[in-house]
Amino acid sequence: MSTQLGNAAKKITTRTVVDMKQNGEKISMLTAYDFTMARLIDQAGVDVILVGDSAANVMAGHETTLPITLDQMIYHTQCVVRAVERALVVADMPFMAYQVTSKEALINAGRIMKETGAHCVKLEGGRHIADTVKKIVDAGIPVMGHLGLTPQSIYKFGTYKVRAKEEEEARELIEDAKLLEEAGCFAVVLEKIPSKLAKQVTESLHIPTIGIGAGVHCDGQVLVMHDMLGLNREFNPRFVRRYADLHTVIDEAVGAYVKDVKDKKFPGPQEQYD
Ligand code: KIV
Repeated sequence: MSTQLGNAAKKITTRTVVDMKQNGEKISMLTAYDFTMARLIDQAGVDVILVGDSAANVMAGHETTLPITLDQMIYHTQCVVRAVERALVVADMPFMAYQVTSKEALINAGRIMKETGAHCVKLEGGRHIADTVKKIVDAGIPVMGHLGLTPQSIYKFGTYKVRAKEEEEARELIEDAKLLEEAGCFAVVLEKIPSKLAKQVTESLHIPTIGIGAGVHCDGQVLVMHDMLGLNREFNPRFVRRYADLHTVIDEAVGAYVKDVKDKKFPGPQEQYD
């Protein structure tokens, strides 16, 4: 039978990423928010695609991730899911889609799964959302956790600096990671925490950790695609490695096009109809 799961021996599932940790194979994860880029990175072999609420920043130009709505996340996730054949697709639950009650969180997670075809959802937070995570997982929806710097709480932290440098916060983070694992998370993102702490968390969990600014010891790594492709020159944190300079590529291509149009060199004879 050719079902979505049945015909996809090579498809990445939540089970695959847990197995990757057990087998010592690192997990690659990138964000995407639209069909074209999702197809490109899926075909290039990324294991996990996160439809991040960072869409609020890179797609919509907001300063924080707070303004993006559930309907907007559903729209972006639908665009990505249409493109993806191999990668596991994770959809971020946006700010206030899961914090009010567990019941509302489950309804919203259900909307994401039913309306988009995403494979799982991601929530930010530790002990305060553990019961909610359990409820969502119990309903059959896989959940990825997110600890450390959790951008939806930026107004509580007041800064995007490295988290959990102090002993007490580090201890809490280790406990939170354990609680998320017990609640049923299949993986957890660790954002902007000291590498030593990420190593400790990674070694204490059976589920994989996926780091962003959390060092090499995590079971996988995630970057915002626009940052690693060099589309965004203004954002230069230490943890981003630029694998391309698409800002320059696009700048030069558009500049050449504008010049050709002005100089009447585009379109040429081969680019028009008789
Ligand atoms: O929204 C996002 O892009 C994220 C990553 C930074 C992990 O949550």
